[in-house]
Amino acid sequence: MIIHIVHGANLDRLGIRQLDIYGSNTLEDQVPILKGWLDKYWPNVELKSFQSNIEGEIINYLNSNDGPGNAFIINPGAFTHTSVAISDSVAGIQSSVLEVHLSHTYARESYRRHSLLADYTCGTISGLGWIGYRLGIEALLSIDDD
Ligand code: DQA
Repeated sequence: MIIHIVHGANLDRLGIRQLDIYGSNTLEDQVPILKGWLDKYWPNVELKSFQSNIEGEIINYLNSNDGPGNAFIINPGAFTHTSVAISDSVAGIQSSVLEVHLSHTYARESYRRHSLLADYTCGTISGLGWIGYRLGIEALLSIDDD
């Protein structure tokens, strides 16, 4: 099984942007920590990470990695609230997709309360910071066991 962690707009700026909301951790330090944790508990599960600020690149990544043995955790950043195109991609793929947000999007500006992807994902974890990714991975592995 491969779990793909997909990040969208401005999440390459974690550790620099709005530290009070997103914290000081970066993708570069957190993804290896997640990999180490996964190796310890699920050594047969591979973790791949992809980030882009370009909507089409995210769509290409999702579409080209869809298929048996693959699952996605996606944090699209602001594309969550704007991208019909990423939502269409998620709607069209077979693999499970789970949405994660570092911040508590339901407790912020009203435009962050709506996700265009949510109709097509198996769930959303919001507001738990990086713990959300671990919980998301555990959920995907449990869903896959069903
Ligand atoms: C975010 C929440 C989005 O509303 C925002 O645009 C982001 C980050 C989060 O992880 O909390 O860029 O996806």
